[in-house]
Amino acid sequence: MHAIGVDIGGTKIAAGVVDDEGTILAQTRRDTDPDDVASIDAAIADVYRELSASYEVCEVGLAAAGFVASDRARVLFAPNIAWREYPLRDNVAALIGDPGVRIVVENDANAAGWAEFRFGVGRDVQDMVMLTLGTGLGGAIVMNGRLARGAWGAAAEIGHMRVVPGGHYCGCGHEGCWEQYVSGSALVRDAQATAITQPERAAGLLALAGGRADAITGPLVTRAAQDGDALAVDLLTEVGRWVGEGAASVAALLDPEIFVIGGGVSAAGDLLLVPARKAFGEQLSGRGHRPEATIVVADMGNDAGMVGAADLARV
Ligand code: BGC
Ligand code: NA
Ligand code: ZN
Repeated sequence: MHAIGVDIGGTKIAAGVVDDEGTILAQTRRDTDPDDVASIDAAIADVYRELSASYEVCEVGLAAAGFVASDRARVLFAPNIAWREYPLRDNVAALIGDPGVRIVVENDANAAGWAEFRFGVGRDVQDMVMLTLGTGLGGAIVMNGRLARGAWGAAAEIGHMRVVPGGHYCGCGHEGCWEQYVSGSALVRDAQATAITQPERAAGLLALAGGRADAITGPLVTRAAQDGDALAVDLLTEVGRWVGEGAASVAALLDPEIFVIGGGVSAAGDLLLVPARKAFGEQLSGRGHRPEATIVVADMGNDAGMVGAADLARV
C-alpha cells in the first residue's frame, strides 16, 4: 500500500508517495514560512491533495522538526519553527477532511533515521544513531531494532545536549547546545562571521557570494571546500571535529554499531567525516580495549525524512 510522507523543515516541505519497499513513486514540494504555522498546515493539505489525486493513499506521515509528543499528534515545542503545544495532526486532518486517512506525526530526524535503518545504510545493523545536520541537529536512536521514543516522545533530541558551557545561544533558549556547533546554521554563522572579521581569509567565499557575507550559504561553503578553499575546508573540519567529539559521548551512553551522518551538510562527505572519525577516536573512552562504532554517511540523501515518515505511518 502507498503512504504519503511529508518532511517539514524550517523553510520548505517535501512530500512523496512511498510504497512499502521505501520507493518514492511521486514527489512535490512547497516553500514555507517557519513563523506562520497555519500556512504550514495549509501547505501540507495542499501537497496531500496534489499527490492523492493520482494515488490511493491510506496513511500520511508528517515528519516535523521539533519535539513530538508520544501521542504522535502534537508538536510540543520546536526551536526553529513557531510550534508550541501545536495540534499538527488534528489541524491537517481537518483540512484534508477524510476520516479514512490515518495521519501520524513523527520527529523529522527519527523519520530519517528510521528510513536509513529500514532501507539505507543501517539496514544490516540493530543498534544505530543517526545525526541529521540541517537547520538544526536532529537525532534518531535505534536500539535492538526499535526506535527509541522516550517516555514522552522526545527521546533523541540530541542537538540540545550541552557541549560548551556558556557557548553559543540556541533556539531552544539554552547555551552551548551541540546543534550550535554541528549544523548547517552553525557552519553558516561561522562562515559569515569570518567573512566580516577576516575578509582576506574569506576572499574565496566572498567572491562566490557576490561580495556579501550574508549571502554565504552552507552549500556554497561545501562547494568552495571541494574546490580547495582553505577557509571552507577549515570550517567543515571544525564541524566534523564537533561531530566526532559529541559522538564519543553518545557512544559512552548508547554503544551503537554505526553513526549515520545525514542532512544537507553531509554532502561534504570526507571533508566532514575524516575529522569526525579522528576526533571520535581521540575522545572515545576505553579506546583500544573495545570495539568501535563506525561513522558513515547516510544513503538516502534528502529523501530519508519523507520515506521514513511514510513507513512509520504504517506501523
Ligand atoms: C529540533 C529537533 C529536530 C532537529 C532537526 C532540532 O533543533 O529540536 O526536533 O529533529 O532540529 O530538524
Ligand atoms: Na529525534
Ligand atoms: Zn538547544
